[in-house]
Amino acid sequence: MPKAVAIHDFGGPDVLGLIDIPDPVPGPGQVTVRVRAAGVNGFDCRVRSGGMRGRYPVEFPQILGNEFAGVVERTGPEVTGFAPGDEVLGFAVLQSGAEVLAVGADQITAKPPGLSWEVAGSLSAVGQTADIALTELRVGKGDTVLVHAAAGGVGSLAVQLVRERGGTAIGSASERNHDYLRSLGVLPVAYGPGFADRVRALAPDGIDAALDCHGGPEALAVSLELVADRARIGTIANFRAAAQEGIVMPQVVRSASRLAALAALCADGSLQPHIDAVFPFAEAAAAHRTLEQGHVRGKLVLVPAL
Ligand SMILES: NC(=O)c1ccc[n+]([C@@H]2O[C@H](COP(=O)([O-])OP(=O)(O)OC[C@H]3O[C@@H](n4cnc5c(N)ncnc54)[C@H](OP(=O)(O)O)[C@@H]3O)[C@@H](O)[C@H]2O)c1
Repeated sequence: MPKAVAIHDFGGPDVLGLIDIPDPVPGPGQVTVRVRAAGVNGFDCRVRSGGMRGRYPVEFPQILGNEFAGVVERTGPEVTGFAPGDEVLGFAVLQSGAEVLAVGADQITAKPPGLSWEVAGSLSAVGQTADIALTELRVGKGDTVLVHAAAGGVGSLAVQLVRERGGTAIGSASERNHDYLRSLGVLPVAYGPGFADRVRALAPDGIDAALDCHGGPEALAVSLELVADRARIGTIANFRAAAQEGIVMPQVVRSASRLAALAALCADGSLQPHIDAVFPFAEAAAAHRTLEQGHVRGKLVLVPAL
């Protein structure tokens, strides 16, 4: 039987394990995909710990994972445009960490040749989040944008997308990530005491927009200090601040067409996602522990077996 990464209770990483799942049958409009890689996100950790209780229905054993890449095995009735053997990437909330899954054909797009399984399987959540956030903040040509946690999953794509839109990105990270950020064409800045002044020194004409991918009080305070227009300050990590301060909390509605556009940017080298580490499904707990330490560069990815 196929295996999947699942939790059998809420708790720490040790509640993660492998379960056997029945071979899925594609329903109308669905395909089944043999998964080659599935990204790990903070959302998975919060579902696992019980932090999303009440917001997402969870039934134990609950499969985790919301993005994947793999090969189409079977197509259900009414599916056009995909056939067995097609290489795809896609999104499927609380479903993707499985060796095989059934998913709507409107939740997948063709994987460009040359894109690695790891990059393809970990692109949807961070890529779509970054792109939607920058759109809601109206980031465009000539803008100078401060991105907090710029070396992380969402941040590292957000800074590259700022550049693609014709803007300049200033990205916060610890010193060890500054060369990495420079390699992406980003002006790095250290967070911590003196943060706002360091940003001012890098942007004498001011900051037009700020995107918080960290969620801490410092990121919020510096954004509010440096950007006058609250409609151009966003956070993907601090719901409470968004409500209290009247800043933007992007509404992340995923689409296969947006994912296709992001995959094309990766394929032509315009976007260069970084994969920090790859874990087999059986070591999902180690991946969660690593992510929860808060210093991943780019993405962590699960694969059925190494
Ligand atoms: N992943 C998604 O698609 C998604 C979608 C919506 C919301 N979110 C939420 O958005 C947040 C970011 O997600 P993510 O996946 O991008 O996180 P992530 O990859 O785990 O972020 C890690 C990054 O945070 C940086 N960091 C650590 N402490 C920092 C600080 N005090 N100030 C600034 N940066 C700091 C680290 O840089 P250094 O190592 O250099 O310190 C590291 O590169 C999470 O709260 C997540 O739940 C994520």
